[in-house]
Amino acid sequence: MGGEPTTRAREVPPAKTNRAMLEAVLAAERQATKDYTERAKEAEALGEKGLAVQLEDMVRDESGHSEETERILRDWPV
Ligand SMILES: [Fe+2]
Repeated sequence: MGGEPTTRAREVPPAKTNRAMLEAVLAAERQATKDYTERAKEAEALGEKGLAVQLEDMVRDESGHSEETERILRDWPV
């Protein structure tokens, strides 16, 4: 799609508590949702419908992860 693929995962900040770890997870899930949404739009614009659908499936997965993590944090402490 014109970019340079990376093989390196995004850094995860160290956490001193379980809750801080989950807050970092939530931020990462939200960022992944945002990034995949953008990639899906780019794929669609390039006429890559199959890729766009795959990326939209990934958006659904990451959104689900965000919702699960939000529920855990809302019910904290569990
Ligand atoms: Fe995820």
